[in-house]
Order: sequence, then C-alpha cells, then structure tokens
Amino acid sequence: MAQLRVGFIGTGKRPVRPGPLGYGMAHQHAAAYQKLPECAIVACADISRENGEAFAELFGVPKVYTDYREMLEKEELDIVSVCTWPHLHEEMVVAAAEAGVKGIYCEKPMADTWQGAKRMVEVCEARGAKLAFNHQRRYGAPFRKAKALLDAGEIGRLREVSFGFGNLYDYGSHNFDLCNYFNDERPALWVIAQIDYRQENLVFGRHNENQAFALWQYDNGVFGLASTGAGAGFVRCHHRLVGEEGVIEIGPAGQGMPVLRIRRSGDKDWEAIDCGGEDCHGPGYIDRAIADFVGALQEGKDSPLCGRNALRATELIFAAWESSRRRGRVDLPLDVPGNALEEMVAQGELRPAKAAAGR
Ligand SMILES: NC(=O)c1ccc[n+]([C@@H]2O[C@H](COP(=O)([O-])OP(=O)(O)OC[C@H]3O[C@@H](n4cnc5c(N)ncnc54)[C@H](O)[C@@H]3O)[C@@H](O)[C@H]2O)c1
Repeated sequence: MAQLRVGFIGTGKRPVRPGPLGYGMAHQHAAAYQKLPECAIVACADISRENGEAFAELFGVPKVYTDYREMLEKEELDIVSVCTWPHLHEEMVVAAAEAGVKGIYCEKPMADTWQGAKRMVEVCEARGAKLAFNHQRRYGAPFRKAKALLDAGEIGRLREVSFGFGNLYDYGSHNFDLCNYFNDERPALWVIAQIDYRQENLVFGRHNENQAFALWQYDNGVFGLASTGAGAGFVRCHHRLVGEEGVIEIGPAGQGMPVLRIRRSGDKDWEAIDCGGEDCHGPGYIDRAIADFVGALQEGKDSPLCGRNALRATELIFAAWESSRRRGRVDLPLDVPGNALEEMVAQGELRPAKAAAGR
C-alpha cells in the first residue's frame, strides 16, 4: 500500500534550548511520523529557508518550500502538520483543507480568536478533512491512569475538576482540554472568571495573563476550577479530580511527590500510583498522539484530539477572558467572535508593563 504523504508547515529550528520563542515542535512531530511505516515525510515549508533546509536534512525530506501554498498545490499531501505560532494556524489549516488534504494535525492553541477556531473546524468538516490539535497530554500515563481510576469508580461520581498550573491560553489549552477529557467531553454551561495582567507576557506572539481564577459548570453538574499564577498554590497540583468518594491528584506540588496519587474516602493516607517514569509532560506523548491520529484517519474516524473536542477547550479560554472583560458570568455558547484579552490590551483597558530591555 502507498505510504501517506506527509508535509509540514513551519519547521522551526532544531530545539537546542526550547522556550517560548521557539520550541521547534515540528521536530517532535517529524520524529513521530518517522516511527510510522505507513507515513513518508515528502515536503516541508517554512518562510525561513534556513530552517526548512536544516529540518529537511535532519529528517531526509526531499522537497523544501518557502511558500506553504505552493507546497499544498504541488505535493498532493495526505497529511499536513501545522507547527507555526497560533495566529497563523487558522489560515494554514483552512488552506490545507481547501487544497484537499485529508488529515491536518495542528499545534495548539487552536487560533487567536474564537471565530477563527470555529472556522477551522467548519471548513475541515465541509471539506471532509480530519482535523486534530496537539493536546498530547491525553496520551500520558498520569492522565490516562487518572481517567481509568475515575472510570472504575475509585472516587465515586466526579464532582469537581481543577487545575493549578500554567495559564489559561498557551498552556491552558492543554489544561482545559484535560478537564473536558476527565468529564467525558460534556459541554460547559457558563464561565465566571477574573484575570490579572500587569506584566507583559507574550507567548508565541500572543498575550497571556499573569494570574487567573475561573469557575465553570458543565451540563452534568460537574464544576471546573482554574487558579493560576500567584494563586496556583490554591490548587497545589496540575489537575485535581474530586469525586463523591475520594480525590485524585496529578502532579501534586512539592519535592518527592508522586506524579499521580489517590485518596479514597476513609483512607488514612494517599496511595501513589506508578506511572512508569512518565511525568506531566512526557516522554512519548506526541509519538502516541500522532500514531493514534494517523490510525484514526486511516479508519475514517476522528481522533480524541479532534477539532470538536479542541473547540470545547478553546471556548472555555475565550469565555474566561470575556467574563473578566464583562465583569460577569458568560453563558455558553460563547457569542463574541474575537479575543477579549488581546482587545483589552489593544484598547488600553489593560496596560501590562513591558519587560525591561535585555531581559
Ligand atoms: N504541544 C505542546 O506541548 C507545545 C509545546 C510548545 C509549543 N507548542 C505550540 O507549537 C506551535 C509552534 O511553536 P514552536 O515553538 O514550534 O515554533 P517555532 O518558532 O520553533 O517554529 C515556527 C516556525 O514557523 C515558521 N513560520 C512563520 N511564519 C510562517 C509562514 N507564513 N509559513 C511557513 N512557516 C512559517 C517560522 O519561520 C519558524 O521556523 C505554537 O502554537 C506553540 O504554542 C506546543
């Protein structure tokens, strides 16, 4: 059987020191496709020829473009990985779907506006393309095992899911996605939130608040809670699941803590759960996520990282910022198209101090 032709939009540089100015995520995607005999990376496109050529040399990619639209036109790709910064995802995903690509694997966060995120999903559905986002933590042992314990009834019926790590948008895209995963992809009914943004924090070119506090409720009654920045210590772990008969904590704060632990009602102490050396960030999560995406694509199915699931996480992000702007609860579905945080900064409602030069 012919191999699936994989192309890349945005290669980045080989990540020597990964950071918010460039992780070179394409390198991790490429390593994942290379492990799949059914895939061949046939082309890549980057506006930096230097980045594209270095990537091509490293992964043995035969064709390098500086214009991704030209690549889409000429290469008859089956799969495209989009590994650029968030404000570019919408135009690139839409162009790939319109060029007839049937599998699009895009980095998170989805887009920098709510209407952009919805458009990506709508265009892909209309064109019959399977779209997925790299919320790879769903494939990590601590999160998988926590979900298995929850599904096995070890803490009774879920009442509350919370996170206390990162922010609402850049890393928060993973956090909200995981909350939705634990709560079986139920839609949320409303969000009430406040943010503090006093020190400019641009991550991949987009504003991210310094501190956030958000509460939301799902249609099955389960509450979600996020407390980040100076308030992260309130949650004291990456994610906490509170059930009627116990608590599960993933990534509890503190030295020497296990990555996953459970305390059932009546237990005197926590029980640590072995996750085979995996922590909240890896290793191997992207390999598994991409392998599952490719497998689902071949079966004509959606991956758990599909656009519809990503939209539910994205709606919570933009609704939280909108709630802060409105000073009130935001009922869902979210009916404002843009990005309240970017708009509040642009309109001078929020004036984060710029980082001192040289820092
Ligand atoms: N899933 C995760 O855990 C995770 C971790 C880090 C970053 N990310 C996400 O990955 C995405 C990419 O981040 P990165 O750090 O890999 O980026 P990067 O800066 O390392 O690479 C981006 C590349 O895109 C190229 N580019 C810019 N405009 C382009 C255009 N018009 N056409 C083609 N190429 C273009 C740049 O030249 C650069 O080489 C971001 O959305 C980020 O949030 C995800």
